[in-house]
Amino acid sequence: MFDLANSHRSIRSFTDQTVDDALLNDLLMTGLRSSSSGNMQTWSVIVTRDEANKRKLYELHVEQEMVLEAPVVLTFCADVFRMREWIRVNDSKQSFDDLLGFLTGAVDAVIAAQTICLAAESVGLGICYMGTTWWAADALIKFLALPQGVFPVTSLVLGYPAEDPPLRDRLPLDLIVHQERYRQLSDDEIRAGHAGREQKAWARYNAIESVRTKLAEAGITRVTDYYTSNFKYSKDLHQRVSRMLIETLQTQGLWL
Ligand SMILES: Cc1cc2nc3c(=O)[nH]c(=O)nc-3n(C[C@H](O)[C@H](O)[C@H](O)COP(=O)(O)O)c2cc1C
Repeated sequence: MFDLANSHRSIRSFTDQTVDDALLNDLLMTGLRSSSSGNMQTWSVIVTRDEANKRKLYELHVEQEMVLEAPVVLTFCADVFRMREWIRVNDSKQSFDDLLGFLTGAVDAVIAAQTICLAAESVGLGICYMGTTWWAADALIKFLALPQGVFPVTSLVLGYPAEDPPLRDRLPLDLIVHQERYRQLSDDEIRAGHAGREQKAWARYNAIESVRTKLAEAGITRVTDYYTSNFKYSKDLHQRVSRMLIETLQTQGLWL
């Protein structure tokens, strides 16, 4: 288990080999074994294998090639709709159509997704999460016909790896772990703690010709400038997506 988790790499390029139905079913069954709040299992997953549907998902996930290459795309959703339907047919008192219901489902969904990732990696499959799920939440809801109470929270591409990337770097553990109380780091500790990341990320980005050109043309010389530039996670993008998420949570009946 330790070896498996410590050798994780996101895989973004896949062979033509399909994922067998029985194997996919085993993976999903393993996901179902995950812990969930109150054992309510307030999550759902949409399996996409159809080429035309994958092409549409490719468009929604900002044309990430791995969506077309992977034989399977999984969209994990917070789902209080099914729980609320169960309550409705039993004429019990309704609940869960609020932010807490959404967060309950979102945590259940992500835990199940990660269980599936580890199980998939244990049999030689590769996975990559897609944060673009948030960016396209409103469009995904329409395309996947998600009813009120259901909200996409993360997606995975899944398939047999056609690449063998090196392990990505991680921050020092003591930046992440706090004993008993949160300890804010000094500026020097922040600099020292991020020095390795800064160096490795910069080298990685510059090794990709298209990124190197973009960085040079935009005059970007630091990793943090790149992270908050229009190429990645700009404030403008964050505000636009955040506004859409709040509106979409409202229309999905998951705000208050
Ligand atoms: C929530 C989440 C969203 C992610 N979104 C994307 C994505 O949209 N595209 C992508 O290529 N990688 C995505 N990744 C993969 C990360 O870039 C990757 O996990 C990180 O760079 C560390 O690399 P590693 O997983 O190979 O160790 C995502 C990962 C997570 C956990």
